[in-house]
Amino acid sequence: MVYVNQLSEHKDQSVTLKGWVYNVRSSKSLVFIELRDGTGITQCVVSQDDVEEKVWEDSNALRQESSLEITGTVKEDDRSVGGYEMHVSDIRVIQVAEDYPITPKEHGVEFLMNNRHLWLRSQRQWAAMRVRNEIIFAIHTFFQNRNFVQMDSPIFTPNEAEGSTTLFETDYFEEKAYLAQTGQLYGEAMAMAHGLIYTFGPTFRAEKSKTRRHLTEFWMIEPEMAYYDLNMNMDLAEDMIRFIVKTVLENRAKELEILERDTSSLEPLVNKPFERMTYTEAVDILKSDKTAAMLDDMMESREQEKEDLLEEKEEIAKEHGSAKKWRKKQIESRQLEISARIDQIEEDMRNIPGWKKSARNFEWGNDFGGSDETVLMMQFNVPLMVTHWPAEIKAFYMKRDESGKHALGVDVLAPEGYGEIIGGSQREDDLELMRTRIEEEGLDEETFDWYLDLRKYGTVPHSGFGLGLERTVAWICGLSHVRETIPFPRMMGRLRP
Ligand code: 4AD
Ligand code: MG
Repeated sequence: MVYVNQLSEHKDQSVTLKGWVYNVRSSKSLVFIELRDGTGITQCVVSQDDVEEKVWEDSNALRQESSLEITGTVKEDDRSVGGYEMHVSDIRVIQVAEDYPITPKEHGVEFLMNNRHLWLRSQRQWAAMRVRNEIIFAIHTFFQNRNFVQMDSPIFTPNEAEGSTTLFETDYFEEKAYLAQTGQLYGEAMAMAHGLIYTFGPTFRAEKSKTRRHLTEFWMIEPEMAYYDLNMNMDLAEDMIRFIVKTVLENRAKELEILERDTSSLEPLVNKPFERMTYTEAVDILKSDKTAAMLDDMMESREQEKEDLLEEKEEIAKEHGSAKKWRKKQIESRQLEISARIDQIEEDMRNIPGWKKSARNFEWGNDFGGSDETVLMMQFNVPLMVTHWPAEIKAFYMKRDESGKHALGVDVLAPEGYGEIIGGSQREDDLELMRTRIEEEGLDEETFDWYLDLRKYGTVPHSGFGLGLERTVAWICGLSHVRETIPFPRMMGRLRP
């Protein structure tokens, strides 16, 4: 069987492709079928003169998403998608599809989400999933090449680890069990057995927030390393992100192009060092005059841009009436572009005053909100690693610095407003301190007996982190919402399909 992404190996040969009609249009004696087969899309041209009557009739009856086998000669053609097209000699229709609900015209997001099972076939969704796959493969490659052992942590667990407010409770034969918020605690046990491990599994948070960054079910990669301190942990996280970005840029350029991802903001990450600072330094930036001035400038430049766009919109609207057909099309697509950009600008303009206030009045000791992360990251074009957090707002298992005030945790914030993609830390390795911490947090000590054992039998300094896969995919693909980064997203208010 030959696939679309192998056509370059079959120049001037006759091959058979098996797939679906992505789009079809016809003129008097030609039918143009855009065929997709999962590996890509290629144009197949049916010429009435070249095929039998039955094939000609069949190709005229085709509709979007009809399934078929199609045979013809592969021709190089620069104008065609992928650089090749097929001159069709035969067609075997498997099914003429019913009216397909997702047409090339624009649809609302709710409609598309309700049709997620079909939406997955669309080009942009297809491209995003290919990038997701590349990221997954890159992560495994990265860790396997460094002698990490991939191990699996349980999904049913009796203990909370990341706060009680986001637990999904299940009935485990009359005992309470939760869906794992993280595999970390088990990862620590596995690291004491194997030194360097990573888990890669689904994790669950009953997030009651409907934001573009929150899923209730998401995939997390959690390396855990014996004998690693916070700095070694951060170096590893930085190397990993760099490797992911580099691999995707090298192998998925076509997909990023389909996604219209501006890769100029990703390219520098391949060799530029990431930013590192403490929470306290980050707070200082947030509250600074410089940040306030930057937001004022931003407001002004948005206003100006909106004015310019409105002017352009008016001008091309005037031209539209008397324009030629091709130009009319051009104008209409530009009008759509302008409207979308203006929507975005207006959203920014609504947000900026609130961002400014929240940054200015930020109080040491609080966690960063989404908008604080956004404002902070406007000032950096590489990921930012924030360390030494107020101990009270971080998880019980994090080791503290000498002052006892700061947790040796690290959050990695992605550039371009994508927010936190990694949370990690050096772990508390002292038995007594850990016991106290568990008590202070009101956690059930019996449930954590085994976890304390790790501090009893050959305790060592150790560290790890968790990378959220979907947020990473959103960032690298340039997608504004995590719902498009996983085949079937689970969020508050979304359980189907
Ligand atoms: O910062 P978090 O909560 O860290 C942990 O769970 C640690 N136990 C990890 C470790 O040290 N082994 O979550 C880690 C990452 C976040 O930075 C974010 O990327 C992602 O998981 N994440 C979510 N992604 C989507 N939807 C949610 N509701 C998420 N919550 C966290
Ligand atoms: Mg976190």
